[in-house]
Amino acid sequence: MTSVSRIDTVRLGGQDGPEVGVQGFGAMGISEFYGETDEAAARDTLDAALEAGVTLIDTADIYGSGANEEFLAPFLAAHRDEVTLATKFAIERRADDPAYRAVRNDPAYIRKAAEDSLRRLGIETIDLYYMHRRDPGIPFAESVGAMAELVREGKVRYLGLSEVTGPELREAHAVHPITALQSEWSLFSRDVERSAVGAAAELGVTFVPYSPLGRGFLTGAFADAAKDLSGGDFRQYQPRFTGENAERNAALLDPVRKIAAAHGATPAQIALAWVQQRASVHGLTVVPIPGTRKRSRLEENAAATRVTLTAAELAELEPIAGLVAGDRYPDMRFTSVEREA
Ligand SMILES: NC(=O)c1ccc[n+]([C@@H]2O[C@H](COP(=O)([O-])OP(=O)(O)OC[C@H]3O[C@@H](n4cnc5c(N)ncnc54)[C@H](OP(=O)(O)O)[C@@H]3O)[C@@H](O)[C@H]2O)c1
Repeated sequence: MTSVSRIDTVRLGGQDGPEVGVQGFGAMGISEFYGETDEAAARDTLDAALEAGVTLIDTADIYGSGANEEFLAPFLAAHRDEVTLATKFAIERRADDPAYRAVRNDPAYIRKAAEDSLRRLGIETIDLYYMHRRDPGIPFAESVGAMAELVREGKVRYLGLSEVTGPELREAHAVHPITALQSEWSLFSRDVERSAVGAAAELGVTFVPYSPLGRGFLTGAFADAAKDLSGGDFRQYQPRFTGENAERNAALLDPVRKIAAAHGATPAQIALAWVQQRASVHGLTVVPIPGTRKRSRLEENAAATRVTLTAAELAELEPIAGLVAGDRYPDMRFTSVEREA
């Protein structure tokens, strides 16, 4: 089920927001986390994205410690008007300590991070600027306040948050309108349905589900996960991808495979169709951002926007998330779950 016809469009954050394809593109894996990348194939995948109408391109300053933004620069130079570029700040890394991570939300850090991202991307304005992680020690009045100042200066167009709870989204939205909330949401990860999804729907904030393919697990490509992952792939440290958990989680894919066969589709397409339809149950606008480095997969994923699951199929998929073994991160302190009431 592959098609290169252009996908539908939607406005981020309601009537005044930018118009983007109903599915976006996650660029992270091009530079880090998922093993070796063939850069020519990745460039071709970006071209395939635009051909399919996949126009929301997602990166972050930490992906490859700036390398992902630099990789995108020539693509942006060639296609600036066709792309809505999203990047993120807040996770500090250190060149001399690969394991070091700190969450930074202070205004001076935000300003410097934005200026560094603009320089690496080679653009004048970031279309959508996300706070990648929240530091609860810094009030939103300060952090979102600093982001709003970047909007006033023309360095940023729209604001987003990542991994915040519903109450946090409401609080931030009162400081400055939030256009998009990006958090993990898939057949395997549904903790956002506790409070964030409802708040986003109510406020008219677009939800951008990240890792909608469960970091590849939902495609069925990692049935034997622990053995398939090479040295540079961080999924070998992910609780869901390793040991007994991987075996148990692989067995959860049986209904996904069965439903895929009934549609003449792939498991990846069923996973993407699920998140799109689950959002509409909540009256929510959603733009999932699957990541891939292959043109054929980009086309396959984009074609999923045309797959519609029946009520019976949705019911069959409903129990899966509750049965998943292992957390979605090795260290859950950096997610919103820890701050859910
Ligand atoms: N805000 C945050 O904290 C956060 C966290 C994680 C990710 N993100 C964003 O979300 C984006 C997507 O998430 P993700 O990359 O973690 O996970 P994902 O989209 O769920 O899965 C990506 C993995 O699936 C594979 N894949 C993609 N399409 C496929 C298909 N049709 N068939 C088989 N395999 C397929 C990719 O391999 P190939 O590349 O080899 O095709 C890659 O290994 C990232 O790129 C990043 O921009 C944000």
